[in-house]
Amino acid sequence: MTERQHGNYELPGMCAWFTGLSGAGKTTTAEMLQKAIEAEGRRVTLLDGDVVRQHLSEGLGFSRQDRDTNVLRIGWVASQIVYHGGIAICSLISPYRDTRARVRELFDEGSFLEIHVATPLEVCEERDPKGHYRRVRGGELKGFTGVDDAYESPLAPEITLNTTELSVAENVDLIMQRIVANGLIRRPSA
Ligand code: ADX
Repeated sequence: MTERQHGNYELPGMCAWFTGLSGAGKTTTAEMLQKAIEAEGRRVTLLDGDVVRQHLSEGLGFSRQDRDTNVLRIGWVASQIVYHGGIAICSLISPYRDTRARVRELFDEGSFLEIHVATPLEVCEERDPKGHYRRVRGGELKGFTGVDDAYESPLAPEITLNTTELSVAENVDLIMQRIVANGLIRRPSA
């Protein structure tokens, strides 16, 4: 169905900002959310840390300064998308609380959803989808978030995802309920 059939023109923009440890499931959840939103007739721009680091943030490392630059760049791009009525999904560790707060300030009240993918470190390590934790424990990789570099959990995120007891699909449903309640998607029957 097109946006027109859904009557989803002229709806407000929104940024869904996924934060959490490496391997927490941010990208998987973000990609499924993108599909769920697109199935309702709205287009989505997905800004994923790993991907943006190959383009807009190429050359940046993992010092606090470089991470902040990466986070603020992605926040700025997302804010432009939202300003023009679009939906941006951002998926990156974004480890520092005050930097995430600076990103939040770029958005109007209500158009920024901070989503904490609260997978515990032990679970991320066990899953280790990219083999990073194994390298960290082997001493080959230093300054890794959650191990020997900071991760500051959000204190008051709009949504906290429990990924150990709920499936990705269940978590996406929770986010979609919030998005619909916020008036970002209008269902034909509504
Ligand atoms: S952020 O800190 O700037 O928000 P971002 O999400 O873009 O991080 O990138 C994190 C990804 O980079 C991780 O999932 C991992 O694949 C890779 N990475 C490489 N080195 C590190 C590191 N020292 N700490 C965390 N992630 C790292």
